[in-house]
Amino acid sequence: MERALYGEGGFYRRGERPAEHFRTSVHASPRFARALAPLVLDVDAALGRPERLDVVDVGAGSGELLVNLLAALPGDVAARVAPVAVEVAPRPGAVPDGIAWRAELPPRVTGVVLANEWLDNIPLDVVELTPAGPRTVLVDAVTGAERLGPEPSEPDLDWLRRWWPLREPGDRAEIGRPRCAAWASVIERLDRGLALAVDYAHAADARPPYGTLTGYRDGATVPAVPDGSCDVTAHVALDACSVAGERAGATDGVLTTQREALRALGLSGARPSLDLAGTDPRGYLAALCSAGEDAELTDPSGLGGFGWLAQTVDVPLPAVLRPAVTV
Ligand SMILES: C[S@@+](CC[C@H](N)C(=O)[O-])C[C@H]1O[C@@H](n2cnc3c(N)ncnc32)[C@H](O)[C@@H]1O
Repeated sequence: MERALYGEGGFYRRGERPAEHFRTSVHASPRFARALAPLVLDVDAALGRPERLDVVDVGAGSGELLVNLLAALPGDVAARVAPVAVEVAPRPGAVPDGIAWRAELPPRVTGVVLANEWLDNIPLDVVELTPAGPRTVLVDAVTGAERLGPEPSEPDLDWLRRWWPLREPGDRAEIGRPRCAAWASVIERLDRGLALAVDYAHAADARPPYGTLTGYRDGATVPAVPDGSCDVTAHVALDACSVAGERAGATDGVLTTQREALRALGLSGARPSLDLAGTDPRGYLAALCSAGEDAELTDPSGLGGFGWLAQTVDVPLPAVLRPAVTV
């Protein structure tokens, strides 16, 4: 998975545009990025409006989230923002010069770190329970044929016992330890501020018995063969990432759904009043369009069902993300 996505010529390294293969909240509507602006303002105020406010987008794709978010901030705040896109893919030509583009996390951050659909693309191993215990699933990257390989490492077995116990022979689990480490590495770099991960997630009491590994190519799901021709992704055990973040120095993680969070941030999906159509037809159509986009972003069986994991270091959690609704 690592080689297929990020190795030389890998799916993401060669500059495939995510929007050509699947639809994230960022692609669904610029209203997603705009909805995050109050969180940035909240953190800015908690930090005492510093001269430099870092806003880092990890797994930035084509950079649209940062562009739309910056446009939604008041000018005096945007002028102090140091926007950074962290992305292994090459910098697209359309990204404004003011946005730094780098392949690795910055060493220190004071401000906000966003990670929309990043953790699900952190490579992981899949294991299957056999009568002799869990065994790693190996996939032939040419034929797609599977076979069972070695026993997972002791740290992986520990992770499985704690976060995804396997019950019946044939059950599969996805070892989320690399995602926990990735999230912890974000928190470790955060001197002060907020880190927010948004992703399709599952919780310990409802792990899918056969896992979630999926391939995407050209907008369709395909077998998750790690041959570099498609995206390979798996849902995220955000509850485990949250604990890893706490150990790395953040406050207790708040887990909520995108629907709850975006509604709290003012996206309702409610249709505009028909009266508006009579007095301001253009305004009515614009409002109708926004309502449709909000409905997609908050659809509980789609993007609205995504998990939000928010953790802070040395600033209070933005009020709008409290109290939490557990995923
Ligand atoms: C599913 S796409 C999401 C893109 C964008 N955030 C969005 O919501 O549309 C995941 C992105 O994360 C990037 N990525 C994954 N692991 C990364 C890493 N360790 N460092 C930098 N970028 C990474 C991939 O190259 C890919 O562009």
